[in-house]
Amino acid sequence: MDLYDMNNKVLVVTGAASGMGRAFASLSIKLGAVGVTAVDKEKKGLDELDANFQDAKDRLMTVHLNVCDENGVIKMLQDTVKRFGRIDGCFNHAGIGSCMAETIDMPTEEFRKVIENNVLGPFYVLKHTLRIMKAQGYGAIVNTASLLSVRGMAKTLEYSTSRGAVLAMSRCAALEAAAYGVRVNSLLPGLTDTPINDETHKGLSPSNPKAAMDAISANIPIGRYATAEEQAQAALFLISDAASYVSGLDMLVDGGLSIHCM
Ligand SMILES: NC(=O)c1ccc[n+]([C@@H]2O[C@H](COP(=O)([O-])OP(=O)(O)OC[C@H]3O[C@@H](n4cnc5c(N)ncnc54)[C@H](O)[C@@H]3O)[C@@H](O)[C@H]2O)c1
Repeated sequence: MDLYDMNNKVLVVTGAASGMGRAFASLSIKLGAVGVTAVDKEKKGLDELDANFQDAKDRLMTVHLNVCDENGVIKMLQDTVKRFGRIDGCFNHAGIGSCMAETIDMPTEEFRKVIENNVLGPFYVLKHTLRIMKAQGYGAIVNTASLLSVRGMAKTLEYSTSRGAVLAMSRCAALEAAAYGVRVNSLLPGLTDTPINDETHKGLSPSNPKAAMDAISANIPIGRYATAEEQAQAALFLISDAASYVSGLDMLVDGGLSIHCM
């Protein structure tokens, strides 16, 4: 038996139109998952995913949905169970970035927007996936937090607050869900090469965003950003049977950045 095998898994991933969520959906299909529900509020990336996996149509269900719509989340999860029979794993990943304002200039609306997208949305996905997994008596959930859940960065108050909240949600849920056979963990990505960072790089170096990325990379012990695929691999490990005793973990995947002093 291959403990890392996805052949027997039905998986749900939110934020699947881009970046790590898309990498997770693609890798899951390539690794043979029997069902993958790929969710995003952006339709274009979902259509591209569908086009890339024409030969796996029977195993991929793309759902155009904003996870801040609680009833939509409930329906998407029910539809997954109707179509694929169960939910073994959920990568609760959809999220948005910071407007990069100092706290004293942070528009309250921006704060509210990020909390809605990055806390309420993931809460709906977590809550209603847990209900299904509790009834099943098994399952594993990975909530995406961030290195900024546990480290500070100026001008990211609304975003860092939201990622800290996800860590707290994961821990509470992990403690409850252990009693009914479900594991809950957090993935804390460090800097990862996905479109969410484009605005940050442009903000730091408008004429040459790549230079900003290179300067940041120089401070990362591994010397570069993670790829979206590397983060997806970590999320898949946490969902796999190889992680059967792992619950409540804050899994930093940051190329050593968090332990780097000088
Ligand atoms: N890229 C990084 O460096 C990094 C580092 C740490 C944490 N993260 C976390 O990763 C997540 C972002 O993922 P990414 O880096 O792959 O970025 P990304 O922008 O490439 O992908 C995020 C996807 O989530 C979708 N999305 C956002 N809000 C949604 C909503 N309410 N409903 C449905 N879909 C929604 C977007 O449309 C997009 O397709 C966020 O949760 C972020 O906090 C990213």
